[in-house]
Amino acid sequence: MIIEPRTRGFICLTAHPKGCEQNVINQIEYVKSKGEIDGAKKVLVIGASTGFGLASRITSAFGSNASTIGVFLEKAPSAGRPASPGWYNSAAFEQQAHKAGLYAKSINGDAFSNEIKQQTIDMIKEDLGQVDLVIYSLASPVRTNPNTGKRHKSVLKPIGDVFTNKTVDFHTGNVSEVTIQPATEDDIANTVEVMGGEDWDMWITAMKEAGVLAQDFQTYAYSYIGPKLTEPVYRKGTIGAAKDDLEATAFKITEKSADLNGKAIVSVNKALVTQASSAIPVIPLYISLLYKIMKADGIHEGCIEQIQRLYADRIYGADLQLDDKGRVRIDDWEMREDVQAEVDKLWAIATTENLNEIGDLKGYSDDFFNLFGFKVDGVDYAADVDEVVAIPSIG
Ligand code: NAI
Ligand code: NA
Repeated sequence: MIIEPRTRGFICLTAHPKGCEQNVINQIEYVKSKGEIDGAKKVLVIGASTGFGLASRITSAFGSNASTIGVFLEKAPSAGRPASPGWYNSAAFEQQAHKAGLYAKSINGDAFSNEIKQQTIDMIKEDLGQVDLVIYSLASPVRTNPNTGKRHKSVLKPIGDVFTNKTVDFHTGNVSEVTIQPATEDDIANTVEVMGGEDWDMWITAMKEAGVLAQDFQTYAYSYIGPKLTEPVYRKGTIGAAKDDLEATAFKITEKSADLNGKAIVSVNKALVTQASSAIPVIPLYISLLYKIMKADGIHEGCIEQIQRLYADRIYGADLQLDDKGRVRIDDWEMREDVQAEVDKLWAIATTENLNEIGDLKGYSDDFFNLFGFKVDGVDYAADVDEVVAIPSIG
């Protein structure tokens, strides 16, 4: 079929298999161009199909020749109905990995459930014995807690006060004011249930008990801080409460893993266009200004550049350069004083009329469409493609 983007708000209902494949190939080529990384050889990535998790899987496989198991929740295609992009990404990743002689298998299901954890553990036991690195990169709006059976929904709201600021509709470029009512106590608790650290802890505990974590294993989860500007809706909002919980969980896991000399660490990453971040009000305007400035300074990075640098310079490099809260800061370039001072200046004057000029609205929009395999260089969108693509080694 001929597949075109069909957007509804900040989501796109269709995805293009060839565009997704080309994105994966581009990321692989980038990692290979940066040379070998002396990293983990057996890696589990939870949330492996898009964004930072996919970049992590690619960096492990093509930077360190690692065997990888990827867990994700994606929609399979059927005749006339394209898959979700993470499905096509994973199909392309496995094809490329297998072609390079690398072990790669995938599990499509709810990572929050006991069943998927058990299935993953069984696969590790059978095929790899143990893993040395576990990347935890889930981003989800809902979670059913397997202990209580209760389904929780996360929200993106400020805590305490009403928050009013500028935002942009990145499809139209329309800059407007958005007002968000503060969260209730339940909202906060639910968001921590979904995006906090409990599930990360459950994974590592289950894996430890099953004996599938190697001596000296490491596990990483990803967090975000960002500037003062977005604080009310991000770091000091409901999602920030969840990130506080995630960050505290790192210390708990490390403590529990002393017998294996295991380490759990959080990496604070840069703001980027992903399916998760497009849904957060105010953030798209911030990102479009940030992109403009960082591109002009030659310090712009996407997920793959971020994760390749995280692995090469920090995790397997000379020094993790942890901050005073024990976190890796690969958001260091985003948070540079000169960059943030410039964002503040542009934020104050940003309007519908000038945003195209002072911000990188096109960059934002292109990145958004790229997530779904659209507007990717070198792809013939007029050509008929088979929407039914299989992931070779899916469990
Ligand atoms: P994403 O939406 O691109 O990826 C989410 C992944 O989780 C996908 O692989 C998806 O299939 C998987 N997933 C979601 N629900 C699942 C479930 N129930 N079971 C199994 N898999 C499931 O998100 P992104 O942006 O890569 O986020 C990953 C982490 O990075 C999150 O913790 C996020 O907060 C963090 N982060 C994101 C930043 C950004 O600007 N996008 C900045 C800094 C950190
Ligand atoms: Na991810």
